[in-house]
Amino acid sequence: MLSTHLLDCKFRYLVAGKGKKFIFGYMNVDILGNAVDNYWRKGDTTPVKIWINGHREPDMNPQIFFRKFPSMLGYEKLVMKAVEGRVLDLGCSAGCHAFYLKNARGIEVEGVELSPKAAQVAKERGIVVHQMDWKGLSKSNFDQAFALMNGMGLAQSLEELDLLLNKLNLCLKKGGVLWIDSTDVTYAEAYWPMKNKEYFGLVEFQLEYKKKKQCFPWLFVDRKTAMKKARRAGFSMVDCKLEKNGHYLLQLRKIR
Ligand SMILES: C[S@@+](CC[C@H](N)C(=O)[O-])C[C@H]1O[C@@H](n2cnc3c(N)ncnc32)[C@H](O)[C@@H]1O
Repeated sequence: MLSTHLLDCKFRYLVAGKGKKFIFGYMNVDILGNAVDNYWRKGDTTPVKIWINGHREPDMNPQIFFRKFPSMLGYEKLVMKAVEGRVLDLGCSAGCHAFYLKNARGIEVEGVELSPKAAQVAKERGIVVHQMDWKGLSKSNFDQAFALMNGMGLAQSLEELDLLLNKLNLCLKKGGVLWIDSTDVTYAEAYWPMKNKEYFGLVEFQLEYKKKKQCFPWLFVDRKTAMKKARRAGFSMVDCKLEKNGHYLLQLRKIR
């Protein structure tokens, strides 16, 4: 289950193909933001079609971004029960987690979301949201932070994963806790022809919604690499919860 990206702003990216680089696409659409917005305002349940490395995946229904506690997965429930203090929800979309924390647990939570439409919906649901790119995060003394639904993917590359973890470290108090998940996708090699020779977890995502398309890179990280990078960014490992199909959740503590 993955995410969108880079929305309402033109961008392009390069993917490796047959030994050379080529421009894959330019886009200025915010597919997930539009799907969230249309569902919130009109109850429109038109699904988002997804391809990973050209392989068709199950459609994503916009309702998923409004899921309530009972329909969250086990690892999400664990985070929802465990977080305390002042909390950051990175890539919050319509704010399903922040909404639960605020209303069911009375937790002080702030969201960060790149998509203007998704951020606006979260605001209308009563959540404090900063509509911004995670790259703009600065020191902010949170007790805990989380990025869920393959949160490491927000980095989009292994190099940027170092930056993402450093930024999240900066946002936390010393001793603060970060919860972040990813998936070891080695198992998927049979379904997704690997396009990137450099790292198997670097994939290309394509979304289609109401005849509009959006392509962007996404990153899945194996556990060993993720743990190494987390330590380098100043975290110690508290726990690694393994889920089905290579999915895992890291619980990290800021030690410096
Ligand atoms: C997979 S969705 C997860 C949404 C939410 N956390 C959930 O579990 O329902 C990832 C979210 O991150 C947002 N996002 C993508 N790139 C981002 C960035 N660079 N900075 C902040 N948010 C970003 C997307 O717009 C999307 O709403």
